[in-house]
Amino acid sequence: MNTVLVNPPSKVYEVKIDSGLLAKAGELASKLHTPANAVIITDSTVDKLYAEALTKSLQAAGYTVFKTAVAAGEQSKNAETLINVLDFMAECRLTRADTVFALGGGVVGDLAGLTAALFMRGIGLVQIPTTLLAAVDSSVGGKTAIDLKTGKNLIGAFYQPDLVICDTDTLSTLPQSEFSNGCAEVIKYGFIRDASIFDHLLSDRFDKEAIITRCVEIKRDVICSDERDTGERQLLNFGHTFGHAVEQRSNFIIPHGSAVAIGMALITKAAVKKGLCDPICLEILKNLLARYNLPSSTSFSEDELFDTVLTDKKRLSDKLTLIVPRKPGQCDLMKLPIAEVREFLHLGLEGAL
Ligand code: NAD
Ligand code: GLY
Repeated sequence: MNTVLVNPPSKVYEVKIDSGLLAKAGELASKLHTPANAVIITDSTVDKLYAEALTKSLQAAGYTVFKTAVAAGEQSKNAETLINVLDFMAECRLTRADTVFALGGGVVGDLAGLTAALFMRGIGLVQIPTTLLAAVDSSVGGKTAIDLKTGKNLIGAFYQPDLVICDTDTLSTLPQSEFSNGCAEVIKYGFIRDASIFDHLLSDRFDKEAIITRCVEIKRDVICSDERDTGERQLLNFGHTFGHAVEQRSNFIIPHGSAVAIGMALITKAAVKKGLCDPICLEILKNLLARYNLPSSTSFSEDELFDTVLTDKKRLSDKLTLIVPRKPGQCDLMKLPIAEVREFLHLGLEGAL
């Protein structure tokens, strides 16, 4: 079992990564506290696959288990679903001694994390990621959120989990497209911090434990120096500024990982055209996106995307920080006037990758 210790200022916790961990979830969680009530928050797909195994493991460790399953998909990251889940928890008579177990992908993790942050001003939270994307990114670092009609993740809180349990066996039931969506975030880590990740991704054997562990270590290092996203943490948003715009414009039909892939392609193309980035980055990105069947372009217009970029919560007055690739393994933050952001978008949309 690989264990990564995550120690941002607000809380210290472990991320456990191994096969077979779902059956040990109760035992692992009960080391943190005396088992009381556990509420599993999951989605309709993951419910059928893994809720029973988790329930049995928690019950064996002494928890009384409640469960609620939201509809699978980004549409569940909304205020109505959030309130329904909070109501359910209140009806279960949960107290601050109890714990939320977020069983699912990034949608469940973000929604359940926010629920845990809000219920009685904060109760226990264990993240159990079941998508590659959630394993390498959303289950770690404490960002929780729901969407508003006007923008993605506009309501949220920083709320670190008490424990993250990543059972790599659960990834075996992921549809290929969802596995690819997770690979987009893995590619991101290669560009921002560690180009050796590209060798892993291009090799014939995808070593899940090793790749997840390396990505979690990178995320740990970044969030420990900037938990509240005021500086270095924004590197984790490589490809996200334009990616979020694509995702939102598509009404969330284009999944997060695919949208990030498009966003990375647009910003890298623009950075190379502006002479800011080693052209080798474009070659690497092109190979990796093709290898994992990820998209690199969008049919949305510059006007449509720019209009959505303006709702980005990282915009401060007339400036927005773009994450610009420089060379494999290095991106820089560039705080730019909004007009210059539009120029990047224009150059990114022009021509093929
Ligand atoms: P998701 O949670 O919607 O999961 C994708 C699909 O896979 C869903 O249909 C789900 O039911 C299904 N699924 C999940 N696990 C499965 C399994 N083991 N086997 C079969 N099917 C399974 O999407 P996602 O890509 O995991 O996460 C995307 C979300 O994460 C977005 O809302 C994004 O904003 C958020 N996110 C948050 C952070 C953060 O730091 N908090 C970081 C990145 C992304
Ligand atoms: N996924 C971006 C972050 O955690 O900051």
